Amino acid sequence: MSDRLFIFDTTLRDGEQVPGCQLNTVEKIEVAKALEELGVDVIEAGFPVSSPGDFNSVVEISKAVTWPTICALTRAVENDIRVAADALQFAKHKRIHTGIGTSDSHIRYKFNSNREEILERAVAAVSYAKRFVEDVQFYAEDAGRTDNEYLARVIEAVIKAGATVVNIPDTTGYCLPEEFHAKIKYLCEHVDGIHKATIATHCHNDLGMATANTVSGILGGARQAEVTINGIGERAGNTSLEEVVMTFRSHRELGIDTNINATKITGISRLVSSLMNMPVQPNKAIVGRNAFAHSSGIHQDGVLKNRESYEIIDPKDVGIDENSIVLTARSGRAALKHRLHVLGIDMEKEALDKAYQAFLRLADKKKEINDDDILMLAGEHRANHRIRLEFLQVTSGVGIHSVASIGLNIAGEHFEACASGNGPVDAAISAIKLIIRRTMLVKEFLIQAINKGSNDIGKVHMTVEHEGNQYYGFSANTDIIAASAEAFIDAINKFPH
Ligand code: KIV
Ligand code: ZN
Repeated sequence: MSDRLFIFDTTLRDGEQVPGCQLNTVEKIEVAKALEELGVDVIEAGFPVSSPGDFNSVVEISKAVTWPTICALTRAVENDIRVAADALQFAKHKRIHTGIGTSDSHIRYKFNSNREEILERAVAAVSYAKRFVEDVQFYAEDAGRTDNEYLARVIEAVIKAGATVVNIPDTTGYCLPEEFHAKIKYLCEHVDGIHKATIATHCHNDLGMATANTVSGILGGARQAEVTINGIGERAGNTSLEEVVMTFRSHRELGIDTNINATKITGISRLVSSLMNMPVQPNKAIVGRNAFAHSSGIHQDGVLKNRESYEIIDPKDVGIDENSIVLTARSGRAALKHRLHVLGIDMEKEALDKAYQAFLRLADKKKEINDDDILMLAGEHRANHRIRLEFLQVTSGVGIHSVASIGLNIAGEHFEACASGNGPVDAAISAIKLIIRRTMLVKEFLIQAINKGSNDIGKVHMTVEHEGNQYYGFSANTDIIAASAEAFIDAINKFPH
């Protein structure tokens, strides 16, 4: 029987802090649900006091997810803790993650304080959080560079105050694996009451040693690993979930295992990469495009008779279907259904029919349809819209005003309008507004390319304000003007009738 290692995923908090990786609430819920299916124990859903958007995401993720504990980050500040408790009100299992910097550098320069005062603030924060939730996790920021003897005093004090988990972050990614192992071991041996709490590792990858340090810390006695999908995170990133999970799966002799369903790893890696617009480096362990590339060489050459001589992980174990086929315009409905299933999406017949029609239209424009495209098609056809775009024609160019004519189908009736604007998107949106005469304002408008080529799909995210509420719209199309109009219509479809 293996010892249980708890997986604490912080993709939606530490990962999402990366500039350009921000997700809206709908996308965060999609990732949170995928994390639940993957089998993580804890989802760090955000830092509620940092923005209304983060607060709202923690609320909505708490409602959407059942099994994992939902965790909210705070500083050692009472207002942060109150706001986090409020954001967690709907969580079935909730945890507040509070803490403070404990290295001399943090104490002196960040807090202009001293060790005794910081220790008191740490204890006060944990005690205050305990008023709201039973499960309180404490982080000693920059623990990697904190003197072990002082760190042990802080950890002992916060456990006495009720901390259930004590997080030892290597915030700057500075430690060496042996040093980090020794730090965790030191805490196991010198903190009175350490058995009452779980020790967590939270390693950053500044020197490329996040996974090595995490594994070392776990071998030293930690039993919670804080990780992100694809190792995304500030600067060089956080420890990657897939690397830690597969290290213990590959080294059974260590007697440590997680609850992760590894066959979901590839799917969630692609989902996060695509939503966050953060490509995975081709040689990234476990989830990089080339991570198992040699196996196809083996098959082609027919040289190797035993896969295990060259592969320590069977690609199928992490959700790579070796029999996967590249989908093209000639692929049938069954191939699309199979690929969707591999990506974790099972569609009813009607939705599949619609997705297949959209697939054929896309395959007409793109030679090969990849998994990102398929995930996009699947998302598009989950919605059953009352208002649909029937046609769009736009004239635009340099030195002329853009003009758009548009046809909408609203609950079976056909409407047309024509409008001009200061660009093609503005013209299309003005034409839509002539048909749908409700007060609405585009608050956020983001266009992203999924891959690289000029024949590629553009994704559009839009937030539209209507009667004091914000509605989110999404679309993807090889034509970015059409995608923009569709995203606007998608948001309008969410207005109350
Ligand atoms: O890296 C770090 O120290 C953190 C803490 C807030 C846990 O992310
Ligand atoms: Zn961090």
